Amino acid sequence: MTFRFLLLILLFCPFAYAWIEEVDDCKVCRPIYNSTCRGVGVPSLKTSCATAKETELEYTVGLLHQIFPNLPVNSCDAVITCPLGTSQKIRIGIEEIPSTAVYYWCEETGKNAGKWYTPGYWNKPGNLEITSVACRPIG
Ligand SMILES: *[C@@H]1O[C@H](CO)[C@@H](O)[C@H](O)[C@H]1NC(C)=O
Repeated sequence: MTFRFLLLILLFCPFAYAWIEEVDDCKVCRPIYNSTCRGVGVPSLKTSCATAKETELEYTVGLLHQIFPNLPVNSCDAVITCPLGTSQKIRIGIEEIPSTAVYYWCEETGKNAGKWYTPGYWNKPGNLEITSVACRPIG
């Protein structure tokens, strides 16, 4: 089955997302969402984060390239929506900072294979390498 066919299904059937997640081709790129998150309030509000399941995080290969042609064609993409009451935090080195990005990408092949990136912003231009994403309670 070709990718274009999958894309077509995706456009016309939102339910296809769940299925695509299962057949996605991200191999070198490991899930970027913090796998230790156990849900808002667990074990305490301050340190908690929504589970990966709660974030509607989708991994696909090559989808974002169709929308943003400047992104590598061989990339595994993650599109994230934080649950209500949480906001996104990304880890860059030892820092965890707020992020307004809605997507991340990671090349499956090449010298940057396996590394996750987010688009930079006004005071941090260029692509930023991140090591983790979490949806943490607001406030
Ligand atoms: C993942 O979340 C846990 C729980 O909040 C936190 O202790 C840990 O530092 C996070 N890991 C990364 C890599 O950000």
